[in-house]
Amino acid sequence: MDNETEVTFPALEKKIRTKSAIIGIGGIGYVGLPLAVAFASAGFKVLGFDIRQKNVDSVNRGTSYIADVSSESLASVVTGKFLEATTDQSRLGEVDAICICVPTPLTATKDPDLSYVIHESEAISKYLRTGQLVVLESTTYPGTTKQVVLPNLESSGLRCGIDFYLAYSPERVDPGNKEHNIRNTPKIVGGIDPQSTQLAQLLYSQIASTVVPVACPEVAEMTKVFENVFRSVNIALVNELAHLCEQMGLSVWEVIDAASTKPFGYMPFYPGPGIGGHCIPLDPYYLANKARELDFHTRFIELAAEINEHMPYHVVFRILELLNNRGKSLNGARILVLGVAYKKNVEDTRESPALKIIQLLREKGAEVSYNDPYVSQIHVPAGDMKSVELSKECLASMDCAVIATDHSYYDMEQMITHSKLVFDTRGITRGLKGNNIVRLGE
Ligand SMILES: NC(=O)c1ccc[n+]([C@@H]2O[C@H](COP(=O)([O-])OP(=O)(O)OC[C@H]3O[C@@H](n4cnc5c(N)ncnc54)[C@H](O)[C@@H]3O)[C@@H](O)[C@H]2O)c1
Repeated sequence: MDNETEVTFPALEKKIRTKSAIIGIGGIGYVGLPLAVAFASAGFKVLGFDIRQKNVDSVNRGTSYIADVSSESLASVVTGKFLEATTDQSRLGEVDAICICVPTPLTATKDPDLSYVIHESEAISKYLRTGQLVVLESTTYPGTTKQVVLPNLESSGLRCGIDFYLAYSPERVDPGNKEHNIRNTPKIVGGIDPQSTQLAQLLYSQIASTVVPVACPEVAEMTKVFENVFRSVNIALVNELAHLCEQMGLSVWEVIDAASTKPFGYMPFYPGPGIGGHCIPLDPYYLANKARELDFHTRFIELAAEINEHMPYHVVFRILELLNNRGKSLNGARILVLGVAYKKNVEDTRESPALKIIQLLREKGAEVSYNDPYVSQIHVPAGDMKSVELSKECLASMDCAVIATDHSYYDMEQMITHSKLVFDTRGITRGLKGNNIVRLGE
């Protein structure tokens, strides 16, 4: 350590240890808001930054818009003056540590869109001061922290490892998961230099019981993308098996249940109508795209994406076949899609396969309506749709009810009793009897 580092490093370390550090969260969405509340609940003053005035106003009113954060816990840290939100980027200079939690979507051609990360790091750079720690949390390809964020920050004239510190620490939040949260999910940190790693480790150890340091930001970035690729590939494998079981007259659900009795070397994944959310459908493309720069083709990633992205088409084909077997055409059929969120018990519809299924069914002339207790309205290419009431009459008036999301709210007995035909893409009807039930993967 040189003299300058000796000054900035212990000062920031002390501020974090004594909880006098002010924590900034850049992007208070699904990832940023729970993180902001976690730091605020641990006794830090937190400043949440967002470009959406709606989010900022909602936080400052103590009203949560993220299911995993209760308005009660949010209001308690807001009224206690531990958390405040703002759209004013000039306040970035007030914070001692800033966690970047902005979106990392794909472009229409499925290339990484780092524009949010770039904008946010440019804004931080403008107000960067000596003794600050910057941590990128957004999921991205290996190299982003060093090749994209670092040059932006150093364009301020300040030097990383001397004037300020920079690390990558992926968010591993699993929305709707009641068992695993920020506290009990180990946090990976990889700094540009040992001091950055040390400070990021100290910061996250204030809210997470285990923090795992790795050699550099690239290892941390690759770890996160690998975790999501792992899921995508395994889901694709079981989706493929579901197709095969349909051809062979076997139940993929029974096969998975039986395989799950093996106490080692196996881990169950389940088939479904496709993958959704802001992670699994997008993140593998970040790695695949980066790999192509090295003339490297990530074949598992591409194949998994192909299989998973085909699932909504397969679901529509199965519905078409089922109706055909009953002497009905899909054109003009009344179809009720149950659940439009990308997974059970959440309100997030980003990349949800149900939206694709609705679009495809409509293109084929079906009269489609949907119900979702968590999602009152959706936007699909043909226009906005509102969730319909799930009454006996509604179910009875439909040619087919398609279970696209297995919300715990759904009463399957009622659904089976009143529907002419139920097509279950999630295996939620396993164990229930009825001639009108057909499952994906059987
Ligand atoms: N949602 C998940 O389950 C999850 C899990 C792990 C990791 N991630 C990753 O975390 C990142 C954030 O995802 P998310 O789901 O929270 O997204 P989100 O859209 O819910 O939240 C991002 C927020 O950032 C705000 N924002 C955009 N640009 C900004 C800027 N320049 N300054 C300040 N705020 C800005 C947006 O208005 C939004 O409120 C992504 O990289 C994602 O891949 C998400």
